[in-house]
Amino acid sequence: MTQELTSPSPAPQAPGTGRGPGWWRDAVIYQVYVRSFADSDGDGIGDLRGARERLPYLKDLGVDAVWLTPFYASPQADGGYDVADYRAVDPLFGTLQDADELIRAAHDLGLRVIVDIVPNHTSDRHPWFQDPELARQRYLFRPGKGESGELPPNDWESVFGGPAWTRTDRGDWYLHLFAPEQPDLNWDNPEVHAEFEAIMRFWLDLGVDGFRVDVAHGMIKAPGLPDIGHGAQAQLIGAQVLPFFDQDGVHAIHRAWRRLLDGYGDARGKQVIGVAEAWAPSAERLALYVRPDELHQAFNFQFLNAPWQSDALRSVIDASLAATASVGAPTTWVLSNHDVVRHTTRLGGSLARARAATLLMLALPGSAYLYQGEELGLPEVTDLPDEVRQDPAFFRGGRATGAVGPGTDTESAPDGAAAGGQDGFRDGCRVPLPWSGELPPYGFGPGGSWLPQPADWGGLTVAAQTGDPASTLELYRAALELRRRLPGLGDGPMSWAPAPDGVLALTRPGLLCTVNTLGHDVGLPVPGTPLLSSAPVTVDDATAQLPGDSCTWWAI
Ligand code: GLC
Repeated sequence: MTQELTSPSPAPQAPGTGRGPGWWRDAVIYQVYVRSFADSDGDGIGDLRGARERLPYLKDLGVDAVWLTPFYASPQADGGYDVADYRAVDPLFGTLQDADELIRAAHDLGLRVIVDIVPNHTSDRHPWFQDPELARQRYLFRPGKGESGELPPNDWESVFGGPAWTRTDRGDWYLHLFAPEQPDLNWDNPEVHAEFEAIMRFWLDLGVDGFRVDVAHGMIKAPGLPDIGHGAQAQLIGAQVLPFFDQDGVHAIHRAWRRLLDGYGDARGKQVIGVAEAWAPSAERLALYVRPDELHQAFNFQFLNAPWQSDALRSVIDASLAATASVGAPTTWVLSNHDVVRHTTRLGGSLARARAATLLMLALPGSAYLYQGEELGLPEVTDLPDEVRQDPAFFRGGRATGAVGPGTDTESAPDGAAAGGQDGFRDGCRVPLPWSGELPPYGFGPGGSWLPQPADWGGLTVAAQTGDPASTLELYRAALELRRRLPGLGDGPMSWAPAPDGVLALTRPGLLCTVNTLGHDVGLPVPGTPLLSSAPVTVDDATAQLPGDSCTWWAI
């Protein structure tokens, strides 16, 4: 009998459209904030070698990919988001060789690597800005207002506080939506486009699997740079389209990048992705960034900012899923990152809620980002002395977290969304990770740590939590293991099941997820076989008692 041999065909995927299966559609991606992850050389600052040495930990945790925050040559005016050379590694973090080795080591473990790209602005130490002639063409210089040009060209505010303009010795002004050390690029200049495409190719050639696009809603400014006529502009970001954020023109840039990414990936049989850090006023406007010919993912900050209330969570989830479904994209869930108050603290200082919120997130269809340390249940550090603070917003009197997204202003935020940070600044979520031991630096490295770690973190270290089934670390490990094993999780259908007030019940194929957002037990008819719970559930013959602030996954 002859057997017809057919070569296995790859899953169908229309090139360039992003439709069809893709690893990123349900990937769990772990954010490594390099400076605070692991230090190999004892200078108290995390580095690429430190990160490489800890990759087995991430493999064991069960994530699919790693996103590395900027490690490029930088004066560090904004934690490396002020890049002076996009093709060089800052000596603080190592060398290009270290980056290469890290990418290879990750791939050997089956982990993909995403790196940050910062296209809205460079460092003021970037060679383009240092050269007055080039600077005038490639950044946004304007004459001032007033009799002798002594007033800024318009009323725009820096998201870190103060005017968005700084006057040069030559008398003109340049725009910086963030710190003065971060001048905004002029994206009307084709040389800027060409340079960023070349930078992307440089890192793709080193093997990266994608880019997290910093301030993906920036870059294009409304023609004529019109006044806003309103103060406290940081609080408007993500609440409305501003003349400097979420302008429709940004989408042409994302389309060009998608062509580049698809072309590069198709030629090598891999999928390389872009994920937008974009603050848009609605789920619908955010979905524009993930249309089939734009970026692959966009962080869902509406979910991050949702209060711990069942109705609010349900409507944010519904709106997000509907908006992304309308463009054929998955939703990209996130609860914590290096710019916001850690979710243990933000959700009312409740580790129980944080654990429940994570299990809810991991049960939703789509991809999810984890921020280093959340798997340890780390709280925000809220008592850092002023002399150790480094967030540029702290020195400019702004509110950095409010600056990079809505809902962090305590007055206007939905209930609970802003709670608990240290005056709205971002150092408290960037304290170096505790790995082992009873005393700082808790195995972070052979030296100290660039921000002081709390004296009571001995019980939160990776070593202390490993093997303890009640620990947050083991909860994350178990959830990620189930997510890999159960075909009904990740990308795919979801629907709501009836549930009492204050409780959410959602079904995925073969699975039911219940979330009790109330502070007390709620009884339910037993819905299935408990698989995993963020807090112990009691099940008798007919009734399941869901503890307050808990989430449970049931096999159905
Ligand atoms: C993004 C980064 C943030 C940085 C800002 C300016 O929001 O996440 O850390 O300060 O962009 O680059």
